[in-house]
Amino acid sequence: MDRDNAELSGELLVEPPRSHAPAGPVIVSVCISCKASDGSGVVVGPDMFEAVKAALGDGEAAVMVRPVQCLSVCKRPATVAVTSPDGYTFLFGDLQTDSGTDALVSFVQSYRKSDYGLVPWRERAEVLRKGMVARVPPMRWSPDDGRAPK
Ligand code: FES
Repeated sequence: MDRDNAELSGELLVEPPRSHAPAGPVIVSVCISCKASDGSGVVVGPDMFEAVKAALGDGEAAVMVRPVQCLSVCKRPATVAVTSPDGYTFLFGDLQTDSGTDALVSFVQSYRKSDYGLVPWRERAEVLRKGMVARVPPMRWSPDDGRAPK
């Protein structure tokens, strides 16, 4: 049965897990040192950390939210990194507490089921598309030609 037929017959489609989804915990690092970009000197990082931790951090060992001091993207507060032991590392800036947290929750859900945590562009919220600072391949990525490891 193809997808169209399954949808027509009302069957629930369950996407099978991809073969290279990250096995380890997803680690969400939130900078608690970030200051507002308006020059006021107000530290915004702790609020971002508390919001992300409340949304993602409690009750599930598969996701760990941790505070960090500076991700070297200080001109684009608030900043957050998402990584895992065998997955991509994403670094985001320009995040607001409310919209950024919602976007990160969705992103982490996609990360956990994507090959090497490489969340497809279409599954990234607009705020994360605009706030993307870096995308770093996993440690065991091929050093020769940059292809995905086998
Ligand atoms: S103070 Fe937050 S990235 Fe540097």
